[in-house]
Amino acid sequence: MKPTGYYNIIFKRKSIRKYETTPIEENKLDEISFYLGTLKPMYEDIKTEMKIVPLKDIKSLRPIKAPHYVLIYSEVKDGYLENAGFLLQQVDLYLSANGMGSCWVGMAKPAKEMSTNKSLEFVIALAFGKPMEPLHRESLIEFKRKSLEDISNTSGMNELLEAARLAPSGINSQPWFFAGGESMIHAYCIKSNILKAILYEKINKIDMGIAICHIWLAAKHFGKDIQLICNKEAEDHAPKGYDYIVTVEVQ
Ligand SMILES: Cc1cc2nc3c(=O)[nH]c(=O)nc-3n(C[C@H](O)[C@H](O)[C@H](O)COP(=O)(O)O)c2cc1C
Repeated sequence: MKPTGYYNIIFKRKSIRKYETTPIEENKLDEISFYLGTLKPMYEDIKTEMKIVPLKDIKSLRPIKAPHYVLIYSEVKDGYLENAGFLLQQVDLYLSANGMGSCWVGMAKPAKEMSTNKSLEFVIALAFGKPMEPLHRESLIEFKRKSLEDISNTSGMNELLEAARLAPSGINSQPWFFAGGESMIHAYCIKSNILKAILYEKINKIDMGIAICHIWLAAKHFGKDIQLICNKEAEDHAPKGYDYIVTVEVQ
């Protein structure tokens, strides 16, 4: 599916936590594997690898009992967490668009080393399988999200920011704030205190990549493209309590 095809899924997707135990058919798994090779990264220069593994290869205190997991591994460099979020959110939407349920799982880890490239670090997992609960939301009211006014102070970018607003995030924390306007969106992430940082700093950056993925898909839907840049002015003027992540230039 082309990026434009996912836009509508943003308005109905949800995390699925109840799955049939029967695995997904081999030919469908092959299609997903093929799709993993076609994803658009947020940053082209970061090496990543994805693997589909069965539940038995997952270690978690409270595992989501899905028959399959996608694991993402990455080179560790600036932006790698956002990049992982951006990539794996395309998989979340693809699965939802194709009748399969999925859920990001921040606490899961691979039970053994799976990456073929030992220099890559495991980042996060996405559980998936046949859903045993309704796959989609029926209306926007079912999304528990902050309002656009709470997450941005821009005008003229509402169509793109609405897609970001609906993005999933770890414990639904929605750590984002968007400033700018006039074809620029400056993305900021809430600062964590030391205690929270241990648990959530990594997850928050993954969340930012997810929201930026939704902005990209919305831009594509409206016939535009995006470029990610660093805007020194926006970086130096981050709202109090937020860290600058990146600026999305909409063309
Ligand atoms: C990075 C990330 C990590 C998450 N980790 C978990 C998890 O460990 N367990 C879980 O049940 N849900 C997890 N979630 C799902 C969120 O709780 C969910 O996306 C959020 O509550 C919004 O709900 P929705 O996805 O149904 O719209 C995670 C989501 C993200 C984006």
